[in-house]
Amino acid sequence: MGKPKFILFSLFFATCFYSFTLASYNLDTPLSNMVRDQIKLEMQASLFYQTYGHYFESSDQALHGFAKYFTDQSLEEKKHADKLMTYLNQRNVQVKTLSEVPEFCPKLKFKKLCNFITGNKTKSDLNIDIPLTAVQNAIDLEEKVFDELEKIADGSDAQLSHFIEHEYLDEQIESIKELKDYETQLTKINGSYIGVLLLDRWLMEGKQNKL
Ligand SMILES: [Fe+2]
Repeated sequence: MGKPKFILFSLFFATCFYSFTLASYNLDTPLSNMVRDQIKLEMQASLFYQTYGHYFESSDQALHGFAKYFTDQSLEEKKHADKLMTYLNQRNVQVKTLSEVPEFCPKLKFKKLCNFITGNKTKSDLNIDIPLTAVQNAIDLEEKVFDELEKIADGSDAQLSHFIEHEYLDEQIESIKELKDYETQLTKINGSYIGVLLLDRWLMEGKQNKL
């Protein structure tokens, strides 16, 4: 092979290698969009838990252990969203605005919480079964979050799958298990105010799953 041909040949391979490297490093558009949707979902969860935190803190509920639990969860969800935003930056993907965080108020199962937000409380909104409803709503939300994370992990990008599996999925399973334990405990309490107060105290002291 003559020198000019060798140079052209080398340039051709260098270009191919560079394109391949760039394609692997830059996350593809469908997966980028899935991660962006996940960020919205994490932010939605954060807002949802923040609202529940203040709801239980109000004098109508005065369940400060539940307030602490949901406030802590809200901060956790925000951290999850932040970590995904940092990840997008690492993969050279624009994070974009979060102005489209979905509304959850119109959904009927969150009606009591929405009545609290809008100030339209009714007597039935102050029932003792509210901690159980809150925990069941949280389970629904966390299971949805888990399903969406699994879809991202099942995608074609090995590094993203690794990141999601190690940073999110295990913790997600632990959160759902914890919530399901509270659901069982609150179901067994069967509306007993003393039982709810006992669990509330334990949540306040950070002694989880001890009932
Ligand atoms: Fe999360």
